[in-house]
Amino acid sequence: MTRHDERFVRYLEAKEPVDDHALHRPTLARLSDLLEARAESRPGKPLRVVSVGAGTGAMCRRLLSWGVFDSHDDIKYVMVDKQEGLADRAAAAFARWAPAAGWEATPTKNGFRIERHGRRVDLTYITGDLFDATAVLPQAIDLVIAHAVFDLLPLKRATESLVSRLTERGLVYAPITFDGHTSFRPSHQSDERVLDAYHETMQTEDHNGATTGSDLFSVFPAVGLSLVSAGGSDWTIHPPYDDTDPVFLDQILRFVEQSLTDEGVEATEQEGERDGTTVSDGGESNDEFQDELQTWLSTRHRQLERESLTYIAHNVDLLAQLD
Ligand SMILES: C[S@@+](CC[C@H](N)C(=O)[O-])C[C@H]1O[C@@H](n2cnc3c(N)ncnc32)[C@H](O)[C@@H]1O
Repeated sequence: MTRHDERFVRYLEAKEPVDDHALHRPTLARLSDLLEARAESRPGKPLRVVSVGAGTGAMCRRLLSWGVFDSHDDIKYVMVDKQEGLADRAAAAFARWAPAAGWEATPTKNGFRIERHGRRVDLTYITGDLFDATAVLPQAIDLVIAHAVFDLLPLKRATESLVSRLTERGLVYAPITFDGHTSFRPSHQSDERVLDAYHETMQTEDHNGATTGSDLFSVFPAVGLSLVSAGGSDWTIHPPYDDTDPVFLDQILRFVEQSLTDEGVEATEQEGERDGTTVSDGGESNDEFQDELQTWLSTRHRQLERESLTYIAHNVDLLAQLD
């Protein structure tokens, strides 16, 4: 893995407790209830889950630990992510987590299996683009999980593609979907210019961008999904920090920098492929703006070192079901 990839994995690790705090519990409870009803109505059938943009599989470990899958004894869980190297990191993360959580892990032909008290989860990791992956998956998915990823995709095409693989009354769970608001405190005179420009870079031909959380409320019905539950899942990081908060915040500041500077883009390209933050089209990259950005970044990094920086990002969680 490149240095950039290593940093991204550390960011994903630091994001886990932040997401733990943020996730909208009523939506998670509805998911759990619907999975229970599904298990009762289809006895003996495995639960087939596909997680797109799965990263290192944090959501799978979380849902197992939190009992959301407890109604199913047999789970086939496929993770899809286009970034090379994440499959190994996911395998390592599961290998660390499984024994501590009481699961016994064994390698299988396509990944590995974890078992506990007669329950088993077959885990497979596909390294590749979600459109290529969904094209070859059978129309047998009970639950699609798209965790913190829809903003990085062409939204209508991605949802259509995923919905086409769902079984009857299949479910789509989209937690931590960014929804266009970022704030830092203490306030800084350049906040508006920097953050507006940052949000603008998120939208490209292939990336739906900063309005994705809200957009899902229109796109889901348009592709035949009815909303079951939804709610805010904002990230709120404030002093005093928890252990990994500084790693998380440092990476958020890097995302802002990489999106808005040529240096950030070049550094990223040298180190490896970008994770999903998008590249500025140069519209705001005049000298004056770059000076302003550097001042803003230095101030924010200083505040981070002194543990005085607060960060809030607005996300939403949605759960929807095929009509
Ligand atoms: C912000 S990360 C979230 C990872 C994980 N869901 C989590 O929250 O811990 C987004 C992930 O989506 C992946 N991704 C982005 N576009 C993708 C695509 N078209 N196909 C597959 N994976 C994609 C990226 O490689 C990245 O790992």
